[in-house]
Amino acid sequence: MGRRKSTNTTPTSTNSSNNFEGANIRFRDADDKEIASNSSNLDDSIVAVDKASEDVSMGEPDVSFFGCDGEDDKTSADYYFDSYSHFGIHEEMLKDAVRTKTYQNVIYRNKFLFQNKIVLDVGAGTGILSLFCAKAGAAHVYAVECSHMADMAKQIVETNGLSDVVTVLKGKIEEIELPVAKVDIIISEWMGYFLLFENMLNTVLYARDKWLVDDGVVLPDEASLYLTAIEDAEYKDDKIEFWNNVYGFDMSCIKKQAMMEPLVDTVDQKQIVTNCHLLKTMDISKMVPGDASFTAPFKLIAERDDYIHAFVAYFDVSFTKCHKLMGFSTGPRSRATHWKQTVLYLEDVLTICEGEAIIGSMTVAPNKKNPRDVDIMVKYSLSGRRCVVSRVQFYKMR
Ligand SMILES: C[S@@+](CC[C@H](N)C(=O)[O-])C[C@H]1O[C@@H](n2cnc3c(N)ncnc32)[C@H](O)[C@@H]1O
Repeated sequence: MGRRKSTNTTPTSTNSSNNFEGANIRFRDADDKEIASNSSNLDDSIVAVDKASEDVSMGEPDVSFFGCDGEDDKTSADYYFDSYSHFGIHEEMLKDAVRTKTYQNVIYRNKFLFQNKIVLDVGAGTGILSLFCAKAGAAHVYAVECSHMADMAKQIVETNGLSDVVTVLKGKIEEIELPVAKVDIIISEWMGYFLLFENMLNTVLYARDKWLVDDGVVLPDEASLYLTAIEDAEYKDDKIEFWNNVYGFDMSCIKKQAMMEPLVDTVDQKQIVTNCHLLKTMDISKMVPGDASFTAPFKLIAERDDYIHAFVAYFDVSFTKCHKLMGFSTGPRSRATHWKQTVLYLEDVLTICEGEAIIGSMTVAPNKKNPRDVDIMVKYSLSGRRCVVSRVQFYKMR
């Protein structure tokens, strides 16, 4: 089985890399040779830093380097608490062609939805969706963005000559005043890892209830969460059993934490052992915030004899108000997106025979202390020829 690539969800929220390799991915992919060469590079870099500080102390500091041009006075602390202020995360999202092209196609191929309509773009980022809507003939687009990226979005709108159609408003949806009482369309890309991580869905629902006209349209208007089960011996070993012996030391106390944190990762479709079960469909145009907390039963039937090491969750989104139904899937059988899939490792390795079923339920709720995080409880049992097991496991997306 080829290695998968993992992303940890802290602190940079929803969007991290898939085929767009982030720092931790390169690190994990490094083999022993690279680690060895890295450590010798480290010595060189220390010398280089020492030399550099000598050079600085000998002359006057270059004043312009310390931000006197006033263009960018943000520090890593700003980015830690507000990762969306940095262009990197937007680059990743924009380069996710499955995501961005789907939105573009939805808007450009369904101009009838947008022509002469007032649109609200919830969490506009660089303003890309607002620009699409303006090009599709919207009467006016309000692009609301709470991070400092709003300043860039304003410039982007101006540079592209769309200031008369797109107004960028910097602030939180929950705190901002819109210059209009009602809007015809709400568009947003709010989906997090495991669909619900980051809890931006509530912001969309807030905007819908406050500003959307009665027969208004929310795009996308449907999101579904699915569950399947995979064989993942090699990778579970690498991520979980690794802690048993780290350079000769027992660090197995970390295993418990590692087990509790779902891994955001791409799964090879060959690893799938069971059917995929639809857990929950959310109708964004009608649901209430409480609907994002739920318990859903599942039945996963083995399609071959194999071992099962993990459950895998993923989601689809749909735009049902288009001429033709449009949308995309983040599942392991579809083209990879930056959301990858969410892997939940099992305490036991299950031995399953074709036709046998894992029966259980998944409970999902925002964390009480930090509603951006998601608490997950999975109850499951297998009563098979080779394996009888019944368990409850808890996970935290954070
Ligand atoms: C997933 S990004 C999508 C950005 C852009 N729409 C796109 O498709 O590339 C979500 C954006 O929503 C912004 N955001 C999150 N919560 C918000 C809120 N309550 N009010 C305004 N903006 C918010 C974030 O800062 C982020 O830039």
